[in-house]
Amino acid sequence: MSILASRISRISPSATLQMTALAAELKRLNKPVYNMSVGEPDFATPMNIQEAAKKAIDNNHTRYTPGSGTRDLKEAILYKIKRDNSLEYDLNNVIVSCGAKHSLYNACQALFESGDEVIVFEPYWVSFPDFVSVTGAIPIYVKTNKKKQFEPDFDDLKKKINKKTKGIIINSPSNPTGGVWSNEALLQTLELCNEQDIWVFSDECYEQFVYDGTYHSLAALTNNNSRVLTFQSCSKTYAMTGWRIGYTIGDARVVSAMSKLQGQSTSCPNSIAQQAAVEALVGDQSSVDNMCRTFQKRRDLILAQLMQIKKVECETPNGAFYVFPDFSNYLGAYYNEKQLKTSNDLCMYILDSTGVVTVAGDSFGAPGYIRLSYATSEQTIIKATDLIKKALSKLNF
Ligand SMILES: Cc1ncc(COP(=O)(O)O)c(C=O)c1O
Repeated sequence: MSILASRISRISPSATLQMTALAAELKRLNKPVYNMSVGEPDFATPMNIQEAAKKAIDNNHTRYTPGSGTRDLKEAILYKIKRDNSLEYDLNNVIVSCGAKHSLYNACQALFESGDEVIVFEPYWVSFPDFVSVTGAIPIYVKTNKKKQFEPDFDDLKKKINKKTKGIIINSPSNPTGGVWSNEALLQTLELCNEQDIWVFSDECYEQFVYDGTYHSLAALTNNNSRVLTFQSCSKTYAMTGWRIGYTIGDARVVSAMSKLQGQSTSCPNSIAQQAAVEALVGDQSSVDNMCRTFQKRRDLILAQLMQIKKVECETPNGAFYVFPDFSNYLGAYYNEKQLKTSNDLCMYILDSTGVVTVAGDSFGAPGYIRLSYATSEQTIIKATDLIKKALSKLNF
């Protein structure tokens, strides 16, 4: 008999965190490392936010807060979503959690269970299937169209929706593809879900990093949004990944269930980080714009670099800070006697021969692809892509 509960066997370690650990290990050993696996901005948390945290400590804002977050932060969230997303909600529609990962986990726990099916689009962020599986529900994968920012294949979506479907997880801008869905694609998905009261998760963690056109929050596109749960985060927008503040907005019954669960698990999000998050959301927003413009420049640079690599195809992603090139032309190639059968083999070969850290598409449900993050300097982008090109040129078929 296994000593561990069966729910643990339903989940896997996060592939992206594993690659981050590998990069840290190479650095510790003083080996050259070009880390293109990073899932966080390479910027410091803006000064005004840091100062707000220091002030919180000075003012002894260091105790437990209400489980679902402070009133000040909830008010700041309501102000922010009205300003940036044209969304109007009440205080009982908001819960603050320890990062949006925690928010999404809690929401899945509150809504899904054995017998339910939850739709996840491929390629997906590594954690979505696991959030679903750990509840006992089953993730159901729907294909996307890489030529159209990885929007849904609507024929496949229609086929996969059935009486057991309880939820659907949308992530635009997407990790790992960087794809941003059009308003039409978002609305079409929502309409299909509304036909049978499916809960629609809109993970909007990368909402501020959209390069061409304006971003629209899904819930703001229609009044028919009562089943939409919106997830946002301070992590990427304000370079605050370590502070662990994310939030959910939506149906008060779901928010209340998530609060109950949170109260019995983490008690509350960090009190100091909550004070800092108020400043992040209502204070000066110029750092967000600066970051966005820098990322756009780097996106253009990495795309130009990838175009120099033979037989690698990459669509132009409209958001986030990832590109998701197709390396499938290199699968089956040999280095010495060893055959590289999967994109994971390819990533490991690139890592061993160059020190460039990437994440294989296999873990995002996209064999043949590799995720490269451009949340790193232009110098690293150029060096890393040059090294990948050189490593690939050494392969035999
Ligand atoms: C798509 C997506 N959603 C949610 C998160 C969670 O972010 P956090 O928990 O730091 O708010 C991430 C982080 O990588 C992400 O890529």
